[in-house]
Amino acid sequence: MAFPKQVRLVEMSPRDGLQNEPGEVIATAIKTGLIDRLADCGLSHIEAASFVSPKWVPQMGDAADVMAGITRKAGVRYSALTPNLKGFEGALAAKADEVAVFGAASEAFTQKNINCSIAESLERFGPVIEEARKHGIPVRGYVSTVMGCPYEGDIAPEKVATVAKALYDMGCHEISLGDTIGVGTPLKAKRMLEAVAAHVPMNKLAAHFHDTYGQALANLYAVLEEGVSVIDASVAGLGGCPYAKGASGNVATEDVLYLLNGLGIDTGVDLNKLVTTGDWISQQLNRHNGSKVGQALGGLCQ
Ligand code: HMG
Ligand code: MG
Repeated sequence: MAFPKQVRLVEMSPRDGLQNEPGEVIATAIKTGLIDRLADCGLSHIEAASFVSPKWVPQMGDAADVMAGITRKAGVRYSALTPNLKGFEGALAAKADEVAVFGAASEAFTQKNINCSIAESLERFGPVIEEARKHGIPVRGYVSTVMGCPYEGDIAPEKVATVAKALYDMGCHEISLGDTIGVGTPLKAKRMLEAVAAHVPMNKLAAHFHDTYGQALANLYAVLEEGVSVIDASVAGLGGCPYAKGASGNVATEDVLYLLNGLGIDTGVDLNKLVTTGDWISQQLNRHNGSKVGQALGGLCQ
């Protein structure tokens, strides 16, 4: 299979990147500043907020203010996580362009993350997808722990396929496959993808790889070869996972873009502006820039 000609980058940093940031709750103005800068880089899909319980994820407690504070750029899809109807109502009021439900291929992770079983999670998502349909809002579906779980260890590709198919059949327009704790390797990624693609069309799948073991770019290369053309990433590699020791954020968007540029794959995203944005947010958070490309080009791109 040939590489895709174009890839849609889905920018995760305002949500996956910031949701686990330790310490004080990050100011809303920093979040909106980040999102506006990302849109200016040419990113067309930005996960901007998360309408989850603020008791569970305090960093996302200002989701409505964030959505109200951004300057919407034409052609950019601003999406939000919605675990249940309450979350969907918040996202609807905030005029999210897309919402996302999130499940997992592991029972134990589902319990820890959203406090229910896999079967209960699917029951909960049904009304969210139904309401979204009534309002003409597309729904993305995440499957977490697709290549390993912090509690259950190895996850069989068939388990991933079962949850992915269920979400797709329920009406999710795109299924994002999450290596939540970044333990995957390229062959494992291919096997997992093959199992899912037997039930969900390849052009409906996205790769959402965290970079804990430094394998994310290799895993992305492997699934690009299979025809995946939607990639989730987070500028400066922002993020982490509260359930896995040492877990890193999503693969850095700058690093993915450098790879895609080298392969001649079009994204519409400006690398220099992206590196500048990664530098900016790292400074705002007083955090090491987790992007290799950001480190190599930082300060040089203005
Ligand atoms: P629960 O405690 O079972 O829910 O949590 P509940 O329905 O019993 O409600 C308990 C309280 O939460 C009530 O408030 C509700 O009103 C409130 P109280 O009466 O106690 O004051 N509540 C809400 N508040 C705001 N927004 C809501 C909402 N729902 C209930 N939407 C729940 C269940 C799902 C809400 C909770 O477990 C939760 O919020 N979990 C979110 C966890 C999360 O955000 N994890 C990170 C995102 S997933 C991820 O990062 C993986 C991904 O990146 C892919 C990958 O890497 O694999 C996507
Ligand atoms: Mg994630």
